[in-house]
Amino acid sequence: MSFDANAYRQASVENWQEAAPGWVRRAELMRELAAPVSHWMLDAIAPQPGQRVLELAAGLGETAMLAAELIAPMGSVVVSDQAEAMLEGARARAVELGLANVECRVLNAEWIDLPLASVDAVLCRWGYMLMADPATALGETRRVLRPGGRVALAVWDAIEQNPWASLPARELSERGLVPSASGEEPSWAPGPFALGSAARVSELLQQAGFAEIVLEALELTRRHAGFDELWDTTLDLSRNFHDAVLSRAEGEIEEIRASLAERFAQYTCADGALEIPGRTLVAAATA
Ligand SMILES: C[S@@+](CC[C@H](N)C(=O)[O-])C[C@H]1O[C@@H](n2cnc3c(N)ncnc32)[C@H](O)[C@@H]1O
Repeated sequence: MSFDANAYRQASVENWQEAAPGWVRRAELMRELAAPVSHWMLDAIAPQPGQRVLELAAGLGETAMLAAELIAPMGSVVVSDQAEAMLEGARARAVELGLANVECRVLNAEWIDLPLASVDAVLCRWGYMLMADPATALGETRRVLRPGGRVALAVWDAIEQNPWASLPARELSERGLVPSASGEEPSWAPGPFALGSAARVSELLQQAGFAEIVLEALELTRRHAGFDELWDTTLDLSRNFHDAVLSRAEGEIEEIRASLAERFAQYTCADGALEIPGRTLVAAATA
């Protein structure tokens, strides 16, 4: 079976356009969950006053906006994403933070519309694994970096290390609501866990010509006040889950909800909150 990259790219833009309002609603949760990841990435690029930093697949641009404060007033950041609706959320956030050195631009990371060697650092948090051709995107990343510039990225580790995603995925697959593995899957298919291998990330960085590669796994905890919040958040953040579940009849939706609540009960804390583990890979390298 072959992978139709262009059909995927078009569907991906539409998907993320639709997902944007949910991501804006859950911005604070993502900010808390991702704080250790953003800080690792910022330490890795060590932004200096006056520099120019590019964030790819930025969504609401949170990581670049942390950099924007460090490089102000002469330095600037470009917050970029393929989905204009995500960038609307980023613009609103920049205004909220009073940042004057943030430019938001629609860009596809596989063909970055910026000149050669035009930025000092690139950030990409949870983006490359969703791209039709991450090798090309990393080549483009290196092209726009000045020699010696740094890239810092995050990709989810394997799905088994991320029960916040594996349990809903299992629920849907056992009910036949998402295609199950047929043995004829294409050799490469993008998705949240498609680069969940340190060896593969390192290989892609090397093939793109990067040096001084560092790579780590970070354990994260997703905390929710209770199952209701987890359910609503999953509907907001995962378009696939949203579409698969909400296309069902009301009775079945309730069954899915009850069954998932049972699956997640193992993560209940003494105060009734849910604390669900997760693991991301973070990597940095020099152009
Ligand atoms: C999981 S969200 C992550 C957003 C943000 N980086 C964060 O960590 O919160 C993935 C984002 O990648 C963007 N994206 C996916 N493929 C892309 C591509 N080829 N070029 C640019 N953006 C892309 C999507 O539009 C979406 O906003």
